[in-house]
Amino acid sequence: MKLFDTHAHYTDNAFNTDRSELLERLLPAAGVAAAVTAGVDVESARASAALAEKYDYIYAAAGLHPEDCAGAGEAELEEIRRLCRHPKVVAVGEIGLDYYWAENPPKEFQQEIFRRQLALAREEGLPVIVHDREAHGDSLAIVKEFPEAAGVFHCFSGSPEMAQELIKRGWYLGFDGPITYKNAKRAPEVVAVTPLDRIVVETDAPYLSPVPNRGKRNDSRNLPYIVEKLAEWKGVTPEEMAEITYENGLRLFPKIRDCEAF
Ligand code: NI
Repeated sequence: MKLFDTHAHYTDNAFNTDRSELLERLLPAAGVAAAVTAGVDVESARASAALAEKYDYIYAAAGLHPEDCAGAGEAELEEIRRLCRHPKVVAVGEIGLDYYWAENPPKEFQQEIFRRQLALAREEGLPVIVHDREAHGDSLAIVKEFPEAAGVFHCFSGSPEMAQELIKRGWYLGFDGPITYKNAKRAPEVVAVTPLDRIVVETDAPYLSPVPNRGKRNDSRNLPYIVEKLAEWKGVTPEEMAEITYENGLRLFPKIRDCEAF
């Protein structure tokens, strides 16, 4: 199986003890042929680009996450723009809105930083990776302000209706470990209305491990559990689903094909 993990955080401290072994040996041995490691602030975006320089199959995204954008201003946005011009930074992300945690920056501030980064992605010609937690209405309304914006709604948790609205506008939907949980009721309905060519698979490592590894640190070796669940729902083989989602990932992040390492 050739796998593409379109969303992970390999700069996270959770990987400090064994990052090299995992990225050099374990993931390639498990068929992970491509992975995008996403920044959540300036420091992790820089570190993500550095990881991408070190490993051929690793690509990076640079962005300010809604949970980590407190105090961000022109200097941070300019640094994200500079990183976007790095040959292996293939998307602006992860960006968006998170209304789940009370201690997050105020909604209005999150929205401003989200809009600024959507504009930046448009100017730099890159797709975006959107984080939308408990903020479906506002996330959809804001991306509609940028009709030419393209990218993925990561770990999609909206309704089938919202999925259809995004698909119509050219977006991809990312599916993660939670689709394997027993209480995943909406996911099968969302997947049912999502065409095969708009599905990508993600781990969000080190978070969101799928069953049977729920609760443990996640990494891209767990992708087959997500691929198998999607394959079951879509009536294709896991091998076909892996191939389809790999190709979808390359279409979602067109800059990858320009990379020397590809
Ligand atoms: Ni993430």
